[in-house]
Amino acid sequence: MYFTSKKIKSATKKNFLYMKIIGTGSAIPSKVVTNEMLASFLDTNDEWITTRTGIKTRRLRSTETLVDLAVSAARSAVESASLLPDEIDFCICSNVANNYVTPALSCIVQQHLKSHAPCFDLNGACAGFLDALAVAEAMLKTNRAKNVLIVCAEEPTRFCNWKRRETSILFGDGAGAVVVTKGNDLKAIRLTTVPNRDVIVYQRRMENTPFEVPGVDITEPLIMNGREVFRMAVESSQRDLRGVIEEAGLTPDKIDLYLLHQANQRIIKSIQEHLAQPAYKFPTNIERMGNTSSASIPILIDELYSSGRLRKGDMLALSAFGAGFVTGAAVLRWSK
Ligand code: ACO
Repeated sequence: MYFTSKKIKSATKKNFLYMKIIGTGSAIPSKVVTNEMLASFLDTNDEWITTRTGIKTRRLRSTETLVDLAVSAARSAVESASLLPDEIDFCICSNVANNYVTPALSCIVQQHLKSHAPCFDLNGACAGFLDALAVAEAMLKTNRAKNVLIVCAEEPTRFCNWKRRETSILFGDGAGAVVVTKGNDLKAIRLTTVPNRDVIVYQRRMENTPFEVPGVDITEPLIMNGREVFRMAVESSQRDLRGVIEEAGLTPDKIDLYLLHQANQRIIKSIQEHLAQPAYKFPTNIERMGNTSSASIPILIDELYSSGRLRKGDMLALSAFGAGFVTGAAVLRWSK
């Protein structure tokens, strides 16, 4: 008997995770782009886009910069956490690409917040928010930080060839942020990689040197194998979700809300059906926002919190997937 309880104790200690969300924020561009607007210059239509993706509108940067969105989301999250910017002691920005290759987006955000806390960017594609949560949790657990600001700011609309209908209809721009601190709300988190470079690729053009042999380094806008992304997303997300739910000692029925990367309404529906859970547990913003890459989950969290849809004690399951192919999932109790 003693042996069993000791074993349980050590297992609990080993798996103890150390994080809770205390602040949320988001910022989205003012420009609303409808399917009809896209159909005015692409060979597409509202019916095709709606039935294949669930997207009706998306927000695209026009007058704002990505930095404006990132800073605004960051400020809101810090305020929502009832902290001052100088009480943040680490900042992580999740971003796939923006027009600053250097300095890091996180440095620019820190400059606006007048913060001297250390910072870095990570690129976990559409799963970047889960990567950032995992890194932040490790920092909290090892006492390297007390309050970590995570800002996911993305402009995937700038990776697309806007003469091609296959990809440009899918994306939107935006930023979502959270502040995390020590606590015991996080019940399980996992990250995985299923290496597949070709399924989603965006190569950025760089300067030519006088020594470069033409044709060695060919770059092109976003290329995506939509069907393969669909298949991998559904397969990985339900596998990851089942894994973290089990690790948290729960069953899918015990999860109150599933907050999935907003890639495509049909992907979300398919995952929902595989898990045999009701649709109301899968809130979305894809119909209004399009796919905002790693910003999609923190924007959704901020929307749900601001509208009173998140209740204290709700058990949340998060799952994201993206280019790489990388995936991440977590189970988190909501206590704000
Ligand atoms: N409007 C009208 N027709 C279109 C459009 C469009 N915007 N795009 C493609 N088509 C056409 C194709 O040319 C094709 O025509 P054809 O039959 O004459 O050759 C036809 O529609 C069917 O094309 P498919 O690519 O087979 O369409 P599918 O049903 O697979 O839907 C889609 C495409 C929506 C991309 C789907 O594969 C999908 O949702 N995949 C997941 C992709 C995704 O979510 N990516 C997000 C980014 S990555 C991430 O976040 C993880």
